[in-house]
Amino acid sequence: MSDGSFPGGPARRAGFFIFLFLPPFPLFSVPLCALCVKNLLFNFPTSYYPSPLPPTYPTPMFPEIERTLFTKDQIAARVKELAQEIVRDLETDLAKDDHSLQDENRVIIIPIMTGAMIFVADLIRELPVKLSLGLTSVRSYPGASISSKGAHLESDLPDNLTGKHIVVLDDILDSGQTLALVKAIILKQNPASLRLGVMLDKQTPRTIDVKCDYVGFQIPDEFVVGYGLDYDGYYRNHPEIVILNQNAIPKR
Ligand code: IMP
Ligand code: MG
Repeated sequence: MSDGSFPGGPARRAGFFIFLFLPPFPLFSVPLCALCVKNLLFNFPTSYYPSPLPPTYPTPMFPEIERTLFTKDQIAARVKELAQEIVRDLETDLAKDDHSLQDENRVIIIPIMTGAMIFVADLIRELPVKLSLGLTSVRSYPGASISSKGAHLESDLPDNLTGKHIVVLDDILDSGQTLALVKAIILKQNPASLRLGVMLDKQTPRTIDVKCDYVGFQIPDEFVVGYGLDYDGYYRNHPEIVILNQNAIPKR
């Protein structure tokens, strides 16, 4: 108590003092008294501010992680830079048809689910743009695969893209099949502009030529997880972009 603390914290201390100095007006003092007694006796919330959480990483939840390619801070800084590039381009494209970033019904961001989920959630909060989202889902790494089995659309793309400014976002560019497929379908709807962005560009020999306008980081030809990317459905919630140790993945 010498450090000024009070058993039960600030709320109970406040309750205690109000209880002591209540004015003798029965109309107010009776219910107030009851409240203060309740405050003192029961476990009323003692803190109205969230206390700092323990670090989420490193955590025993992911012992099979071998090394980190990009930390949370590196990712966050790069996402901010990408957002600035996107805003600059959108501003230029919108100006061509006399629109601005604040105009409604002009910009549609298309995240390719599920991998782009975390990247897009972070990125769009850095975009001061009146935009809407049009989710689509493509599968190319079914189950525990670590190489592409061919891209398949799992949900229809939005059908209102004509004349709009479209930015398609994915977690990673690997063989290029996913983005090539989505791009071809969108172009059929004659958008005003179409740009592609990925958080990661894997340096892998590619037969399909897809150019991304926005790339977070280039990475070596290795299987990565975290920040939305999965292996067999897991690790998407890992906050960094990491490489699993070889025991965690069966041989290619
Ligand atoms: P692509 O069609 O071969 O370019 O593959 C793109 C998709 O494959 C991405 O959207 C990811 O979902 C998945 N993918 C490719 N490489 C990796 C990886 O290293 N880790 C996790 N998923 C990957
Ligand atoms: Mg994907």
